[in-house]
Amino acid sequence: MNSQNQIDQLEQLKHFKNKITRFLMVYKFALDEMETKIEILKEEFHLLHDYNPIEHTKSRLKSPESMMNKLFRKGCELSLDSMKRNIKDIAGIRITCSFISDIYRISDMLRRQHDLRIIETKDYIKHPKPNGYQSLHMLVEVPVYMSDGMEHVCVEIQIRTIAMDFWASLEHKIFYKYNAAVPQHLLEELKSAADSANALDKQMEQLHREISEIKEANAA
Ligand code: GTP
Ligand code: MG
Repeated sequence: MNSQNQIDQLEQLKHFKNKITRFLMVYKFALDEMETKIEILKEEFHLLHDYNPIEHTKSRLKSPESMMNKLFRKGCELSLDSMKRNIKDIAGIRITCSFISDIYRISDMLRRQHDLRIIETKDYIKHPKPNGYQSLHMLVEVPVYMSDGMEHVCVEIQIRTIAMDFWASLEHKIFYKYNAAVPQHLLEELKSAADSANALDKQMEQLHREISEIKEANAA
């Protein structure tokens, strides 16, 4: 290969690398925007209601490797454009709330923000998955302003309680990459653990409500 060819190839590689970095950067900025929005809601809520509805938030960008695997699994074309169209959870943020009612409060507050486009909502709290999984999922598009204009960037938001998060984290650990069929009695135990987590959520919410009522009555 002559040296001009090598230079051209290097240039092409550099161009491609810059394109991928720019592609992922936009998703990182969308996550930054969402984190700021959530931080504002959290601080203001704390000021108004004297308690913090959000225990913690965690955001992540999907790795290029896992994006490629997902495209491959779904039988989609391997390109940046196809990633954008077919993978809706490149940018993900998980909000862990104290109580179930906080989940709907936070999601309503986000819904009222006009710069956010709500693409899809999946309520796995009202309709848990057969294995017992519960969470509220929202796909939103966040406007991100770059030097050459604005882009709507998709972010997956998962909102759940500590108990739901506890169950989901451990379920993921136990069953991750377990490809064979799970025996029926284990599925039933898993579902029963999810029911226990849900009962705990309801019990804590009830306690929270009763104490708030007593506090309000004493303050009146
Ligand atoms: P992908 O699983 O990402 O392809 O998305 P989907 O189109 O099936 O969407 P869904 O909203 O059902 O799930 C998206 C994400 O929610 C997953 O990537 C997980 O993080 C989480 N999730 C969904 N179901 C389960 C579950 O049964 N257990 C656990 N631990 N997490 C789940
Ligand atoms: Mg996912």
